[in-house]
Amino acid sequence: MRLSLRFVLPLLLVLAGIAYAIAPLVDQLTLKWFVRDLDIRAALIANTIQEPLQEQLAAGKKAKIGAFFARITQDERLYAVGYCATDQSVALASRALPAEILCSDLTRWELPGDHLLASSQGPLHVAVKPMANELSPTGKLVLIHDMSFVTRRSEETKRYVFFFFMALAAVVSLITVVIAQLSWRGWLAGMRSLLRGEGLLRDPAAAAKMGMPEFRPIARDLQRLVRELESEHRARDESQITWTPDALRAILHGELRGDDVIVVSNREPYIHQRRGDRIEVQRPASGLVTALEPIMRACSGTWIAHGSGSADRDVVDRHDRVGVPPEKPAYQIRRVWLSAEEEAGYYYGFANEGLWPLCHIAHVRPVFRSSDWAHYVAVNRKFAKAVVSESRTRNPIVLVQDYHLALLPRMIHEELPNATVITFWHIPWPNPEAFAICPWRQEILAGLLGSSILGFHTQFHCNNFVDTVDRFMEARVDRENFTVTFRGKSTAVRRYPISVDWPPAAEVLEKPAEQCAADVRNLNTLPAGHRICIGIDRLDYTKGILERFRAVERLLELNPEWIGRFSLIQIAAPTRSSIDEYQSHEAQVRALAVRINERFGRGGRDLPLPILLKVEHHDAQQVYEYYRGADCCFVSSLHDGMNLVAKEFVAARDDERGVLILSQFTGAARELPEALIVNPYDTDQCAAALHLALSMPAAEQRDRMRLMRGLVAEFNVYRWAGRMLLDAASMRQRSHLVEAGGGPA
Ligand code: G6P
Repeated sequence: MRLSLRFVLPLLLVLAGIAYAIAPLVDQLTLKWFVRDLDIRAALIANTIQEPLQEQLAAGKKAKIGAFFARITQDERLYAVGYCATDQSVALASRALPAEILCSDLTRWELPGDHLLASSQGPLHVAVKPMANELSPTGKLVLIHDMSFVTRRSEETKRYVFFFFMALAAVVSLITVVIAQLSWRGWLAGMRSLLRGEGLLRDPAAAAKMGMPEFRPIARDLQRLVRELESEHRARDESQITWTPDALRAILHGELRGDDVIVVSNREPYIHQRRGDRIEVQRPASGLVTALEPIMRACSGTWIAHGSGSADRDVVDRHDRVGVPPEKPAYQIRRVWLSAEEEAGYYYGFANEGLWPLCHIAHVRPVFRSSDWAHYVAVNRKFAKAVVSESRTRNPIVLVQDYHLALLPRMIHEELPNATVITFWHIPWPNPEAFAICPWRQEILAGLLGSSILGFHTQFHCNNFVDTVDRFMEARVDRENFTVTFRGKSTAVRRYPISVDWPPAAEVLEKPAEQCAADVRNLNTLPAGHRICIGIDRLDYTKGILERFRAVERLLELNPEWIGRFSLIQIAAPTRSSIDEYQSHEAQVRALAVRINERFGRGGRDLPLPILLKVEHHDAQQVYEYYRGADCCFVSSLHDGMNLVAKEFVAARDDERGVLILSQFTGAARELPEALIVNPYDTDQCAAALHLALSMPAAEQRDRMRLMRGLVAEFNVYRWAGRMLLDAASMRQRSHLVEAGGGPA
């Protein structure tokens, strides 16, 4: 309707303008016609009255002539008739001729021209015809017509012309509006289906059925354009934004209009532990927590997680919530309680004995028990309930984290169909053959496909996921856009490489690097100048700790000059210790450290040990002291989604010193090629990398470190979260658009 008005009003105005402009032309034209008519009419009258008038003149009866003239001028248009016998005489006339008409001055009316006279009686037409007779051979008849009817006619004509144009405008508008409405509906239907992702071009049959085959090429171009604009917009925005907590807050309040943000993960960011009669707050060793914690501080949302600490129940309110960080609460943790059986089946069993080894190619067999699966399903449902109860609106943004909660996205979608669920899979995704080992592969895939966006660290893992879906599910896979549509729900599969807080918190960088180096050596009773490499991991078999130790052993074999001058300090945070595989791995790690230390250790001399193994929890402050005080950091994961230790080490080295040795099997290796990239299974290569790192000149260390720091600074964790939120925002805007267009979202 608005469109019609927008079109019709200007059309009416234009046509009215045309009518107004051509009115004078019409006037001139009709005047010309009337003058010609009056000329003809005057000639006719003159001819008609010639004979009787000649008779009257010959008879010399002036009174009769006057009456004769009066009779003729009863015609409404004939104003007056006169007769001039000579140019000296006074005219005999039906009534007083206008003052401008004199017998002495008739010649001017005989010359060619329009013969119009604007007299005080109004516009007149003057015609002079010769009327010779025997008495007056130069006699002339004067016929004066009233022209006021021309003005009346002209007004009438103008009115008709105006009405004609208005009628024309109405007809043209009507036809145009009808055509426009029909086409617009077609366009709308086309646009709606495009926005719904049905894509006319992908479904030519549907387009043909809608009777719009002509839209197909346009739809294709439009679709490409929209996509290009979207990605351009995002790329431009992304590179223009300085990614800080404030930038993230601005996205939440601007693009997402302050929508509800809920994070869900198994691991909680703060664990309250009872130590005697004191309650201690512990920060877990988890890459996931490291990445998400700064995000939550910035966003002030709610983080739903398993309450696993011994004092967790003592500190929550009646809704199971507690504000964190304890010293200055910025957001809420909502704790979900699990029984010992649930924890054993869901967390230790299905998640960590099943999915964890399944997704990491670390040569540990996955174990799948149906009892674990039952707990996994039940606990996922428990988390779904918590999400529903924590949502303040029907369309929250829910950030689901990791392999513990693979079923949660679909469960949330069923309860809150308008929620935007962004799931991030922090660990690798294996190829379809490897994933097929899981007896509940279809349920896991169906669960994840309840997400609006599913994120992985690398494109390789995105590809593996899409291949797996293609192999095992009845789903529509669009490889051009990397989306999967399953049971009517579309999931965008995207790469979002995770990162760390940049710049790191001021307190962890407070102590100068040289001081850290000195303190780390003192703490470990190592002499000044002793070369140190650090390894910082959870004590997990995927981290390649055994391989790292073997590399140290090989270094000392090949380069004995390092014996007593170099140590690897391995900080290994205890993890999942009730799982057999983890217990035996810990035992192997301890035993290998002892064997290598015996081989290259003191042996009667007072030499520092080559491996210092610390199986204990370290807080962020202590970990950063090691990062800043070491000569090198060795990350030798056998398979790792990203590995944030690598990025943390880089972020910690504001002195631009230190060398990173990085496994090629980490996501981080794709982003930090300036590290010494190694295959952890190749012991000799790792030993050579250690030697190279320990002998690397300061200038080369600086050059490599600068490049790596540039990348981490640019692609920090705020950008990771921001990109996902921006994608979620444009997805939500698009579905609002479709809803506003009247179609289903
Ligand atoms: C990996 C997983 C996280 C997990 C972390 C620590 O980084 O991707 O989800 O939190 O390990 O493991 P934990 O079992 O202690 O939570």
